[in-house]
Amino acid sequence: MPLRQAIRALPQNNTRKGRQRLTRRAVVVGTGHYLPERVVENAEFEKTLDTSDEWIRARSGIERRHFATEGDTTSSMATAAAEAALKDAKLTADDIDAIVLATSTADLTFPSAATMVQAQLGMTRGFAFDVQAVCAGFVYALCNANALIASGQADRVLVIGAETFSRIMDWTDRSTCVLFGDGAGALILEAQTGKGSNADRGILSTDLNSDGRYKDLLYVDGGVSTQSTGHLRMQGNQVFRHAVEKLAKTATTALDRAGLAAQDVDWIVPHQANIRIIQGTAKKMGLSMDNVVVTVQDHGNTSAASIPLALSVGKERGQIKPGDLIVTEAIGGGLAWGAVVLRW
Ligand code: COA
Repeated sequence: MPLRQAIRALPQNNTRKGRQRLTRRAVVVGTGHYLPERVVENAEFEKTLDTSDEWIRARSGIERRHFATEGDTTSSMATAAAEAALKDAKLTADDIDAIVLATSTADLTFPSAATMVQAQLGMTRGFAFDVQAVCAGFVYALCNANALIASGQADRVLVIGAETFSRIMDWTDRSTCVLFGDGAGALILEAQTGKGSNADRGILSTDLNSDGRYKDLLYVDGGVSTQSTGHLRMQGNQVFRHAVEKLAKTATTALDRAGLAAQDVDWIVPHQANIRIIQGTAKKMGLSMDNVVVTVQDHGNTSAASIPLALSVGKERGQIKPGDLIVTEAIGGGLAWGAVVLRW
């Protein structure tokens, strides 16, 4: 039976004793990433701002970041990451049913960056859409893609996180502009049969949250209906206060839903915003930094791109291996936060 037909024949989810027992699993079969060529070291900021390499490293763990050059857009970087993921999975765009792209910095107000990627990949079937949950965007995108696969709506989904946050920086605000970077990462999820236990490969559980009362902690002070592009504004220390507690809680909730505990985790692949948040979350979960994939020193905070970038780099480094239990977690503007537990 051809692969596509075999996948279509996979059973749908069923519910037993009130608990969802997945039999169609969304399994990662390919990863890829793209980073723009321009690398900016912390020391560059010393020329224009009252800051230092030492301060940025100590408070955030960031040493350098990539910034988009004139030709780079969110969709062009997303397409490059997607092509790398397709190559890794030995698939072509024709094998993909859907594209879910997490971004807060799409090329245009509309159409979605996802449909632009669809066209750039030469994909003329299926469907594509963007998800906007700022730095939690990739976790939200993974949850959407998992639901599409679990329900039988799609058999292979390209899930991308791509951002050009350099376009919304206020270059005079030292408390934000040194923290962010640009880039894109992509995963391909494929429907495969699982036994419904947490030993299955694929996405095992998810947890999503948001609380709009915290809008003023992290936002862009412009948008279509206010007729400007705007710049990122953040009360960093307030965001920090929420981050560790909410991230450890969402990760633990997602693990619990899968019948797993922190001790079962091989890798935390966190949103890469700040090394102190990453360390604090691992500590709160009772895990060592040896169990954490860290890329923040080289990428800065790439918002929705940071988790797929870290997954792709973690695989390339030989850290993440088939069968490993991974928990990804992220928090960002909204506030919006969440976690996904998956077996690689
Ligand atoms: N260089 C030097 N000094 C800086 C600076 C910079 N780039 N940015 C801020 N400062 C100064 C502040 O002006 C402040 O000075 P003051 O005490 O004279 O007012 C001082 O450093 C401390 O500022 P504060 O914001 O309390 O520092 P912090 O230890 O909280 O670190 C962040 C700042 C932004 C690194 C930290 O709060 C953080 O990472 N927060 C989370 C942000 C985040 O991850 N957001 C994204 C979530 S998706």
